[in-house]
Amino acid sequence: MSILVTGGAGYIGSHTVLELQNAGYDVVVADNLSNSSRTSLERVRDITGKEITFYEADILDRDALRNIFAKEKITACIHFAGLKSVGESVAKPLEYYQNNIAGTLVLVDEMKRQGIKNIIFSSSATIYGDPAFVPITEECPKGICTNPYGWTKSMLEQILIDMQTADPEWNVIILRYFNPVGAHESGMIGEDPNGLPNNLMPFISQVAVGKLPELSVFGDDYDTPDGTGVRDYIHVVDLADGHVKALKKVSENVGLKIYNLGTGTGYSVLEMVKNFESVTGVKVPYAIKARRPGDIAACYANADKAKAELSWEAKFGIKEMCADAWNWQSKNPNGYGS
Ligand code: NAD
Ligand code: WQD
Repeated sequence: MSILVTGGAGYIGSHTVLELQNAGYDVVVADNLSNSSRTSLERVRDITGKEITFYEADILDRDALRNIFAKEKITACIHFAGLKSVGESVAKPLEYYQNNIAGTLVLVDEMKRQGIKNIIFSSSATIYGDPAFVPITEECPKGICTNPYGWTKSMLEQILIDMQTADPEWNVIILRYFNPVGAHESGMIGEDPNGLPNNLMPFISQVAVGKLPELSVFGDDYDTPDGTGVRDYIHVVDLADGHVKALKKVSENVGLKIYNLGTGTGYSVLEMVKNFESVTGVKVPYAIKARRPGDIAACYANADKAKAELSWEAKFGIKEMCADAWNWQSKNPNGYGS
């Protein structure tokens, strides 16, 4: 009996594969390596000492999925596979809708044909748009997304909800991640963005390691304590653990469940810089720039529901997030290419 992890070679996927193996699960990964490399999984294997069954496969490829389902005894799927760059999605909306939405439709259709009706889906706090209130509970209404990437997540949530309503044999757990950061404590796996990082933490790390000259802080005139944007950063290992907890839940015939995975605490951009500097002892030069289009002032979770129902809560704080991001970056200045 194995768990299928789509997108398992990626940032969150590789950390989740590691935690699944540590929890005793057999793992099968399907990834087309469009935004990752095999090295991440080789390193997971080196850490856990356990083999991972890997298929270089696109979730849009029915035959490839059928081959996996024919060969492996899959009981549930954790579905990470997708394109995730906000800016790229604005330039290439059709590619994002095709890959993320059509890919998921093919995946769940093939799962259904096999009678495998347990799925955990990677959603995002981005579906709340500019949130109606903070801290954000799961009851907060979904909002207007500012980019096609966000819409793929919002639409996929609705598709999975409709699917589960029509066929209650499905168990669907939707996990809404806040801002994943950090890396496994070994420094052997971590986030390896292509080109210029879009997200704050990898940008800070690359400035610290000397690959980039300075951080641009996008706006200091938001309605927040220091004027810079506030987010709920969550350690990727905590996030991975959330999936292990959700997997236990999905096998209990839960029907449909939606959980926020965040810490409940918001940090501003400047607080992130200060924490990173104090934890690592490395200076991060920055300059205040204009607001980034589509950004919101503040976004942080109320994660009480995951605590109550999944017995999950974040264990790691901002210090560990910064220390582990730096450990990974300094040991692998060029990511998996180093
Ligand atoms: P990632 O890019 O590191 O991982 C995604 C993986 O999916 C990659 O390994 C990529 O090669 C693979 N993939 C993409 N399209 C595929 C396809 N058609 N078939 C097979 N494999 C495919 O991204 P991540 O940060 O690990 O994110 C994982 C999931 O979590 C994504 O769905 C993402 O949208 C979601 N998410 C990420 C964040 C974040 O900030 N990192 C926040 C919220 C939600
Ligand atoms: C955080 C804060 C920026 C970079 C994005 C996606 C979201 C989700 C997570 C997938 C903001 C500021 C950033 C920089 C900066 N991904 N910033 N300089 O925008 O909250 O969320 O990633 O689902 O969908 O939108 O994360 O890390 O890009 O930004 O000042 O170079 O850092 O303005 O306030 P964001 P982020």
